[in-house]
Amino acid sequence: MTDHTSRLSGFATATRAERLGVLAERLGGDAEAVSLLERLGPVDGELVDRMIENAIGVMPVPLGLATNMIVDGREMLVPMATEESSVIAAVCNSAKRCRATGGFQTSYAGSLTIAQVQLCGLSDPHRARLEILGREDEIRVICDEVDPQLTSLGGGLRGLEVRILPTRAGIMVVVHLIVDTRDAMGANAVNTMAETVAPTLASWTGARPLLRILSNLADRRLTRARAVWPAAEIGGPEVVEAMLLGAEFAEADPYRAATHNKGIMNGISAVVLATGNDTRAIEAGAHAFAAQNGCYGPLTHWECTEEGSLAGTIEVPLSLGIVGGATRIHPVAQLCLKILGTDSAEALSRITAAVGLAQNFGALRALATDGIQKGHMALHAQNVAIVAGATGDEIEFVAAKLRQGGRVTEAKARKILDFLRA
Ligand code: MEV
Repeated sequence: MTDHTSRLSGFATATRAERLGVLAERLGGDAEAVSLLERLGPVDGELVDRMIENAIGVMPVPLGLATNMIVDGREMLVPMATEESSVIAAVCNSAKRCRATGGFQTSYAGSLTIAQVQLCGLSDPHRARLEILGREDEIRVICDEVDPQLTSLGGGLRGLEVRILPTRAGIMVVVHLIVDTRDAMGANAVNTMAETVAPTLASWTGARPLLRILSNLADRRLTRARAVWPAAEIGGPEVVEAMLLGAEFAEADPYRAATHNKGIMNGISAVVLATGNDTRAIEAGAHAFAAQNGCYGPLTHWECTEEGSLAGTIEVPLSLGIVGGATRIHPVAQLCLKILGTDSAEALSRITAAVGLAQNFGALRALATDGIQKGHMALHAQNVAIVAGATGDEIEFVAAKLRQGGRVTEAKARKILDFLRA
């Protein structure tokens, strides 16, 4: 591949079959290798081509169902798309252990999305700020005209903030359009509003408008969940104490907090992906929120109740949608929403936050007791067997032997496979 130019003239307008032809040529005429990309599963070729540019195929990620979840009193099956073993098992297990206390209770701050307009070159930023704040009604009219359908559904501009931002390139004025995007993630609606209103803001203030884009620090779309795990369900008071110490580690140390939050996002991103939402927007928002106090910290907090149970809370910004984007056009995302039985972005956000908390409980419990590798490797053994070349019935045979023998390595899997085949 590296000996060839990366200029592929006409690639963007070629059909997918033609693109695969080009690719096969690049791989030394290996048409069989690229034939893998001909199979698109439940997604049709036209959709793939409409969703992204230069499409050559799909990258299937396993989709599983998390069981045992009760969210706000409702029994749920939660679809999760992830390539990582143990993630779904951890959610199922954690959810099972808090069923007796009612599962997860959640709350939702609303679907307010922020779009930013950057205004530069102002010598009198405070005057400009007051000018803009004084004309909120006019701004609302301009913004709401952008998306009449959103307004008819109860959405539209809900607030205005004007910040004075000292930067290395001088003072800037940053306008926040705070828009209720209802059941949409809202990027398209608020970006169009920001682009539409920017020239007017410039004409009022004499500023040079520059960037006009939503903020992924979606701190007006916070979703919260809480659950209580009785000590008896999780191995007794010693495990509660060990888990609390593990959680305190994340409170005190950003190195640990990053990993703690990564585990939470294992759960959250899997639901986000399964429902066709934007995983990067959610990840960026979550990590920015985790650092909002000036020091990166955990998204969950853990405490011991008077009864000695372990209680966990999560608070996380979730800009999720059930209309628009891939959610609306991807057949598997549609099916996942149907499985969830959700009819609003709010319901989806509540479930997603609960999954994040469940995931964190599972990771903390494993880490504070046996360590993460025991359970992880037991599940991972099958992957290792496949990597070593096992197929069909051989996979479980090799995986079982790997699990018995302590360390799970590819070399060991190969030896077991050789022995089996001999
Ligand atoms: C691994 O994908 C996630 C964990 O590292 C999370 C954690 O440490 O809390 C196990």
